[in-house]
Amino acid sequence: MNLVVLTGAGISAESGVPTFRASDGLWEGHRIEEVATPEGFAANPALVQDFYNKRRRQLAEVQPNLAHHALAELAARWEGDFLLVTQNVDDLHDRAHALVPPAPGFQLIHMHGELLKAHCTVTGRVIDCPGDLDPRHDSPFSPDGWLRPHIVWFGEMPLAMHVIDAAISQADLFVSIGTSGAVYPAAGFVQDARRAGARTVEINLEPTQGAGLFDDGLYGPATETVPAFVDSLLQSASKG
Ligand code: APR
Repeated sequence: MNLVVLTGAGISAESGVPTFRASDGLWEGHRIEEVATPEGFAANPALVQDFYNKRRRQLAEVQPNLAHHALAELAARWEGDFLLVTQNVDDLHDRAHALVPPAPGFQLIHMHGELLKAHCTVTGRVIDCPGDLDPRHDSPFSPDGWLRPHIVWFGEMPLAMHVIDAAISQADLFVSIGTSGAVYPAAGFVQDARRAGARTVEINLEPTQGAGLFDDGLYGPATETVPAFVDSLLQSASKG
């Protein structure tokens, strides 16, 4: 059985990473155009680098929660293909999966990029970025390039879409966890999965605007709902 799981900010909320569209949202004090568009970066690189430097530093203060760990356990034990697509730029999934080696059919994609990486403005080449970036940070890849956060900003193309589309077209089960479904193309994955004949499940604190597109819904904090869902999935898989 082929599985695609999409996660959003809600899965990291109980780790202490703020969600985007809550009243205490991440963008507070900054308009999205200022800090999450290529135009914002061109207009004020110091502000944008500082914004992501702060968020990168905050990663040191948070840990994966029971929901991340439950998905890592699932990845270790799932016998079919399992694509985990996250819209999150934190590294909490990565840290959870590092503790339990995933099965061979598992893959994790950060479709909106990663805080702990940077890329060259000229070549696009990606490099690990554990620390702060300067406003005009020299790129090791091009004399004319700078390093910028490896974050997909509004107006830019999400990463690895061909891999995601291919997995969804083969999916038997599609699960959307902790995402408001407000931002495309991720918001359209459930319809693609339905067209492919997959069963679709929404897991969220509360039903989202698109809840009607899912066959089933499981509502409550991710640290409770995700482990419960993973347990029942592994039990039904073991019964064949
Ligand atoms: N458990 C489960 N779900 C939760 C929890 C929780 N503890 N806390 C919040 N949620 C849910 C909210 O109900 C909401 O539906 O998580 C969702 C968070 O939605 P958004 O803040 O819109 O985040 P997300 O869907 O990941 O945003 C998508 O938008 O701004 C861009 O690029 C950014 O990747 C981001 C994208």
